[in-house]
Amino acid sequence: MSSAPSIVLVTGCSSGIGYELIKLFEQGHYRIVATALPSSVQELLSRPVAQSEKVSVEPLDVADYAGSTALVRKVEREIGPVDILVNNAGISYRSTVEDMTIEDEQKQLQVNYLGAMHLVRECLPSMRRRRSGRIVNISSVGGMMAMPTMASYSASKFALEGASESLWYELKPWGIHVSLVRPGFINSLAFTKVLFSKKKASGESSQEYDRHYENMKAFVEKIMTRTPCTSTDVARRIYKVCQMKRPPLRAAGTPDAILFYFLRRILPRFLYHKLLYRTLPGVKEWGPNSKA
Ligand SMILES: NC(=O)c1ccc[n+]([C@@H]2O[C@H](COP(=O)([O-])OP(=O)(O)OC[C@H]3O[C@@H](n4cnc5c(N)ncnc54)[C@H](OP(=O)(O)O)[C@@H]3O)[C@@H](O)[C@H]2O)c1
Repeated sequence: MSSAPSIVLVTGCSSGIGYELIKLFEQGHYRIVATALPSSVQELLSRPVAQSEKVSVEPLDVADYAGSTALVRKVEREIGPVDILVNNAGISYRSTVEDMTIEDEQKQLQVNYLGAMHLVRECLPSMRRRRSGRIVNISSVGGMMAMPTMASYSASKFALEGASESLWYELKPWGIHVSLVRPGFINSLAFTKVLFSKKKASGESSQEYDRHYENMKAFVEKIMTRTPCTSTDVARRIYKVCQMKRPPLRAAGTPDAILFYFLRRILPRFLYHKLLYRTLPGVKEWGPNSKA
């Protein structure tokens, strides 16, 4: 007699990595709960993978903590306790620190960090009771190195990294695995979804940062459209981590993540920062006189 399928809950499945990941899980011995923002549920439901009887699509905004609690209880009641939680949903602001508002900061953290940790807390009691489970948090190279105009995004991923590291120690006695998967640049259209702060969107921000935005936008988009690594490749990596007997706490999601990891580790900090600063695109024209 075959064992019951593992129940996996993946957030943010309407596109990109999450969507590719549920397609992989659907091929295996899993029962999948795929969440999508309420505004994207219909789109996900129209895809072939959503027709599978192994897949349940559920609306969820991870910043709606009560909604997350209700969803985990519903899954436990109707399908069973969550065996694998993949916190994949994420957003990214492109903004200098000065242009962010407190509301923007909160939104960034609610989706990428607070919402993910709330789901962890909701799934943990049953995992601990059963002395098994896996938590896979999708971090980023931005969670180990910060770049200009990405402060808030990096802060959210650094927070996720720190909390996951603590969790790794806390949960080891119960045999619950905690992993972070860190993608670097991916050939995807995710850059079209970057958010701008309220201040920037309303034209209240200072033009003195214009070069920061222009150069970083062109730089990120150029790399993202040229890199060979796709969302499917990252999803394969996450899927593999979910199946490992002894998954690592940190796993590179793309080959460039390995390179960045070693750059960060090997170079003395002062040299690393100096080097990175000098290689920032068009950095010589950044600054108050850039529009003169
Ligand atoms: N793309 C990259 O280069 C890259 C690099 C490093 C790390 N990552 C990380 O990888 C993860 C997946 O990103 P991706 O590349 O697949 O980008 P994506 O295509 O934009 O996917 C993000 C998913 O999260 C969903 N989402 C956004 N806000 C949400 C909320 N409040 N509640 C629930 N779901 C929400 C989105 O839904 P909608 O489609 O409905 O908006 C989308 O399905 C993210 O955590 C991201 O930070 C991506």
